[in-house]
Amino acid sequence: MSADTAPHGHDHRHDRHGHAGHHGHDTDLDWEAMADTLENAGELRLPLLRATAARLRELIGPRHEVRRVLDVGSGPGVMTCVLAEEFGDAEAVAVDGTQALLDRTLARAEAHGLGGRVGVRLAELPAPLDGLGTTDLVWSSMAIHHLGDQQGALDALAGLLRPGGMLAVAEGGLPMRFLPRDIGIGKPGLQARLDAIQEDWFAAMRAELPGSVAAVDDWPAMLGRAGLTGVTAFTPILDLPAPLSTPARSYLHAHLTRLRDGMSESLTAEDLATLDTLLDPATPEGIMTRPDAFLLSATTIFTATRPTP
Ligand SMILES: C[S@@+](CC[C@H](N)C(=O)[O-])C[C@H]1O[C@@H](n2cnc3c(N)ncnc32)[C@H](O)[C@@H]1O
Repeated sequence: MSADTAPHGHDHRHDRHGHAGHHGHDTDLDWEAMADTLENAGELRLPLLRATAARLRELIGPRHEVRRVLDVGSGPGVMTCVLAEEFGDAEAVAVDGTQALLDRTLARAEAHGLGGRVGVRLAELPAPLDGLGTTDLVWSSMAIHHLGDQQGALDALAGLLRPGGMLAVAEGGLPMRFLPRDIGIGKPGLQARLDAIQEDWFAAMRAELPGSVAAVDDWPAMLGRAGLTGVTAFTPILDLPAPLSTPARSYLHAHLTRLRDGMSESLTAEDLATLDTLLDPATPEGIMTRPDAFLLSATTIFTATRPTP
């Protein structure tokens, strides 16, 4: 699961799916409250996102003219803007269910001189994305797993493609790592225990989505079932060694705050105390100052193409 989809705090929650968490998990996500974290995460990954966009252009090939690009579940639109930069003749459309994130996307596009070529569409998927016209590239990062019927979503997105167009889905990869196994406070192996709790949370989150369909997360097979061919996969690695910059530390502080607030019932008292120390900005052992914090993150991108007749 993604670092960006970890449990969140309880502030300003809106129950977008109309259900409450069960089994001790709070699985509703307040995307608007996560706007800063999502944008910071995108900023930290900018070199990777640019390299990814260039790779997508190579994979689509020079013969296919890219006129429209969709970013589905676009968040604050960091990749939407990168795609608009890479595909300079295309219109890039950010699609998301949260208006505040689309507003950010428009502001970001304006600030990057892309105002005329970035559009937005408010849509709570699986609502149909009609009226947008055909598309040459659909990009969707860390969003499909928030939809109950992942295969149905891929089928619908594949249906938007022109022949020769590409669907690229960023899902899976490795859990993010940012601390050594032994950090000198609490029981060693905190990150592995946090991962295990997040896996349980993720399973509960998926089970409670509207129209939830149990499915094996075999993305190449799912893309094939959506009628696409020529599946590829690659995994860009974000490798920020210690000592971390302040923006990277702030991102981790927000991430740990979400875990601390969202997982408090599942954590031992010792691990809670360790998290509190890591979150304390006044101690040298805290994530904002400790010298050994790093950031290692890898998300796999699966691509596939709509066959030409
Ligand atoms: C983890 S964020 C990913 C944001 C961005 N793509 C990235 O990789 O940083 C998931 C995004 O999907 C959007 N989302 C979640 N469920 C959705 C739904 N049912 N319809 C439309 N958007 C949805 C959220 O608003 C959020 O912006």
